[in-house]
Amino acid sequence: MEYQILKHEIANGIALVTISRPQALNALNTLFFNEMNHLLAALSQNKDVRVMVLTGEGKAFVAGADIAEMVNKNEREGTDFSRLGQHTFRSIEKVAFPVIAAINGFALGGGLELAMACDFRLASAKAKFGQPEVNLGLIPGFAGTQRLSRLVGVANALYLLTSAEMIGAEDALRIGLVQKVTEPELLLDESMRIANLIAAKGPKAVQLVKVCVRQGLGMSFDDGNELEAKHFGSLFGPNSQGEEGMKAFMEKRPPVWQD
Ligand code: HXC
Repeated sequence: MEYQILKHEIANGIALVTISRPQALNALNTLFFNEMNHLLAALSQNKDVRVMVLTGEGKAFVAGADIAEMVNKNEREGTDFSRLGQHTFRSIEKVAFPVIAAINGFALGGGLELAMACDFRLASAKAKFGQPEVNLGLIPGFAGTQRLSRLVGVANALYLLTSAEMIGAEDALRIGLVQKVTEPELLLDESMRIANLIAAKGPKAVQLVKVCVRQGLGMSFDDGNELEAKHFGSLFGPNSQGEEGMKAFMEKRPPVWQD
């Protein structure tokens, strides 16, 4: 597929994906969702990809869903657009490798919803966060009402969702919306540094950590423990990555991960 909005490059186990529609502050339209679904499927098939970094080109990460595309939608089309975005963002949560959001600027509306679907978030000190949908007489439609309260608690979520107030990176860090803030010019380096850390770890272990955390959230604690025990056990045995990692430790050498 020829991508018009998404740029991507793969090196050293890391897929760097850049949303590139800076003339509209990377606003999310139907083409974006089609491209993202296609790219996620392609990266999932690529055994070289162990982690993905997602960022935006220009002064925005993403300034929301594309208002110009949405303005003429009817009720059914509005619902369909919501479902398309929800499905795509769920695919980010379900993809086998961790996805890091590198938030370079505005993360508003659907842009913050996209960032929240990533596994964790690093932000430039210049980044701005908000759910301004109520300014437009709308509510979030890409699962923002569901993810925000789970990430930052009900009161912080309702404050942002009802007031549409924009907050800066330090406030986002304080409420746990982002995990780290960097100087703007260091954001990509820091994101790639952390991606490199992840890419060097036991590949199956990294995948199973994501499975246990993500699937465990929807389970009882006891069922989550069962899931963890089953996957923990799957890392043992002859020629397993667990065996290699532990042997390498005991032999004071770096591990060599085999598929
Ligand atoms: C379409 C957008 C856009 C958006 C910006 N642009 N945001 N186009 N959809 N969400 C366009 C502008 O129209 C403008 O195009 C160009 O990008 C540059 O934007 P400016 O407004 O000139 O930039 P600036 O003055 O720096 O202001 C930045 C901004 C502002 C504060 C981020 O652009 C803004 O308020 N944008 C809308 C943010 C928003 O409401 N997001 C939520 C959308 S609803 P031209 O052609 O004039 O140069 C949503 C719902 C999700 O996300 C769920 C759906 C199911």
